[in-house]
Amino acid sequence: MIDWRVAIASLTLSNPVLVAAGTFGYGLEFARAVRLERLGALITKTLTRTPQQGNPPPRLVETPGGMLNAVGLQNIGLDAFLQERLPALRACRVPIIVSILGEPIEDTTAMAQRLDRAEGVAAIELNLSCPNVQERSGLGERGSGQLPTAQNPEPRAKWMVAQDPATTAEVMQAVRQQTRKPLIAKLSPDVTDLVPIARAAVRGGADALSIGNTFVGMSLDPVRRASRLGTLTGGLSGPAIRPLAVYRVWYTAQSVNVPIIGVGGIVRAEDALEFFLAGASAVAIGTANFADPRAPLRVVQGLERYLRTHHVESLNELRGAINHPSAL
Ligand SMILES: Cc1cc2nc3c(=O)[nH]c(=O)nc-3n(C[C@H](O)[C@H](O)[C@H](O)COP(=O)(O)O)c2cc1C
Repeated sequence: MIDWRVAIASLTLSNPVLVAAGTFGYGLEFARAVRLERLGALITKTLTRTPQQGNPPPRLVETPGGMLNAVGLQNIGLDAFLQERLPALRACRVPIIVSILGEPIEDTTAMAQRLDRAEGVAAIELNLSCPNVQERSGLGERGSGQLPTAQNPEPRAKWMVAQDPATTAEVMQAVRQQTRKPLIAKLSPDVTDLVPIARAAVRGGADALSIGNTFVGMSLDPVRRASRLGTLTGGLSGPAIRPLAVYRVWYTAQSVNVPIIGVGGIVRAEDALEFFLAGASAVAIGTANFADPRAPLRVVQGLERYLRTHHVESLNELRGAINHPSAL
């Protein structure tokens, strides 16, 4: 019998394969096609305090080995989720991790407080890394000395909490005070050095880290001389980012002592294994769900096969176990 349970604070997942936020709707959409109880956990699309319409279309563009999205957090709002979706989702017997993002910080803490009391919510994932929300700071504020004007509103830099260690710790702490439920910080891989940010999240009370979200990118149509998305930029995901994500998991795993959920470009069991070797305790499948919502279950089956074939009795044997001269 393979033991591949994963503990995230008080939550024990029966297996290490999750579905990533925003790529599996609220979960119920797939309940007929996918045996949700076979997933380690389901992470919901990120919810905000009030409903959001998201960004103008087009919101998805295919790119080599991946896609750019600019969904912009379209969601029904936390109240509607708790009242209209959660009761049916609870019946699916899969741990439900609710992803939230709030601005200002009071919105986030209010949501965490509600989720703390919500029956059937196994854990909270704090999305500190959404690249598709409103652009908050112009380059001027970041040191170019040139504030955007009405005539020249671009470029404006995307802003995310998880770009800055101090803000990351502050937001985590504020949320930690509101809940005893397991708290996962979803970080951006798109930073110069993830380690200080990961450490800040743990210092602030994160029980686990999701590494990571998408990378900011652009796709331009030379004929129209315009973005192929409704917004100027989007978030890159899919197999194209997998080596970048694996590296970041490996690099961060050396410096933190909480479980890491590896996310980025996983399609097959082999891809998930890369993340375990890099030091992840669990993985989440994102973009692959758009091609095949059963991809996460195929990953579960493929992992079972691998573990049996290679006589691996526990995932602990694989975690961080890279054979390399400098790793010995
Ligand atoms: C269409 C789309 C929507 C997403 N929405 C969210 C979201 O609501 N919250 C979040 O934390 N991440 C969101 N993500 C990021 C994914 O959860 C995941 O971190 C990222 O796509 C990398 O994994 P992948 O390459 O397997 O897709 C979204 C990604 C895609 C492609």
